Amino acid sequence: MKIAVMGGDGFIGWPTSLHLSDAGHEIHIVDNLSRRWIDTELGVQSLTPMDSIQERTRIWHAETGRRIHFHLIDLAKDYEILKQWLADEKPDAIIHFAEQRAAPTR
Ligand SMILES: NC(=O)c1ccc[n+]([C@@H]2O[C@H](COP(=O)([O-])OP(=O)(O)OC[C@H]3O[C@@H](n4cnc5c(N)ncnc54)[C@H](O)[C@@H]3O)[C@@H](O)[C@H]2O)c1
Repeated sequence: MKIAVMGGDGFIGWPTSLHLSDAGHEIHIVDNLSRRWIDTELGVQSLTPMDSIQERTRIWHAETGRRIHFHLIDLAKDYEILKQWLADEKPDAIIHFAEQRAAPTR
């Protein structure tokens, strides 16, 4: 299947993408990389080192021969671009993880 993983650069989205790619699916990550920008803005970084999405997909291809495609789209702002992308790519399934996490305050 051709599967779009929205938020596929994130904590849940990336391993989901690897798992589905490993299972033989064609994976298209759609992400605006906002999570990385938020970390930069706050001056914090992941507890475990995190390569760029380009480097992640390059390593995955080198290790497995499989390709994971990346598309820089903001789901909240780039509506026309997203609509066109969906019309062009016609994914069989969409998995939606693209949101900003919020921790409860109490
Ligand atoms: N992390 C957990 O333990 C956990 C547990 C249960 C449920 N969830 C849910 O899973 C989902 C993803 O969580 P996560 O921990 O992977 O978060 P995350 O912040 O690591 O990943 C979210 C991804 O979505 C992207 N994104 C955010 N806004 C976007 C936008 N407007 N357009 C495109 N991409 C956008 C971010 O850049 C990021 O890569 C959330 O709905 C979260 O509530 C997470």
